[in-house]
Amino acid sequence: MKRFVSVLVLSVALVPGAALAQGVSEEPIGNLAELMRGIMFVNANKLFDAQAVEPGTVPVPEMDSDTRDAVSALIGSASSRFAAIYRGWPEVAGAAASLADGAKLALIEGRVCDNGETVPVADAAYIEGARLLEESATNALNAAREENWDGVWEAVNYVNESCTHCHKTYRDGPDSRQEPRCQSQ
Ligand code: HEC
Repeated sequence: MKRFVSVLVLSVALVPGAALAQGVSEEPIGNLAELMRGIMFVNANKLFDAQAVEPGTVPVPEMDSDTRDAVSALIGSASSRFAAIYRGWPEVAGAAASLADGAKLALIEGRVCDNGETVPVADAAYIEGARLLEESATNALNAAREENWDGVWEAVNYVNESCTHCHKTYRDGPDSRQEPRCQSQ
């Protein structure tokens, strides 16, 4: 009990100061493929969905328990349970903001690719891909905030181009899985 109390006192005294002083790491943590799967892939798909169907116009379907179980098995129970919360324009804006800010994360020095190569963050073509992503996703974000479907539609075409700008050089070969990826030009 004594020990428990002193640990408690210590942590109250020290942790807030330590947290303030340290902040978060400036080093990249995931590899580039993980960043792509976690941020670029999921959020770009949400923007492509927003191109296909006007956000906010599709009612959330009623599901019987078998259907709900099937959806949960596919996308995870928390994800399916909360899938409807930010549907519509807030979801589009969130996806666009993730991509716009995600462009910075793609440019952090010292990250590695899945194959262990260093991400070519100093290459002009790589930087241009990230810049195009930030610009196009910011345009999509502004259009989503105004609930302007035409604006989102237009901006998302450029988001798609930004992905291709990098992938054609640093990811995809003729067979679309060319190795080694991430070669500096
Ligand atoms: C700044 C350059 C750049 C931009 C912009 C970019 N990517 Fe990537 N992407 C890469 C590179 C390089 C790889 C290979 C990463 C690796 O193998 O570690 C990659 C890999 C991927 C992968 C495959 C991950 C795997 O499983 O191997 C996906 C999916 C992906 N990107 C999606 C996207 C989407 C969607 C966009 C646009 C919204 C995008 N990327 C924008 C450079 C970029």
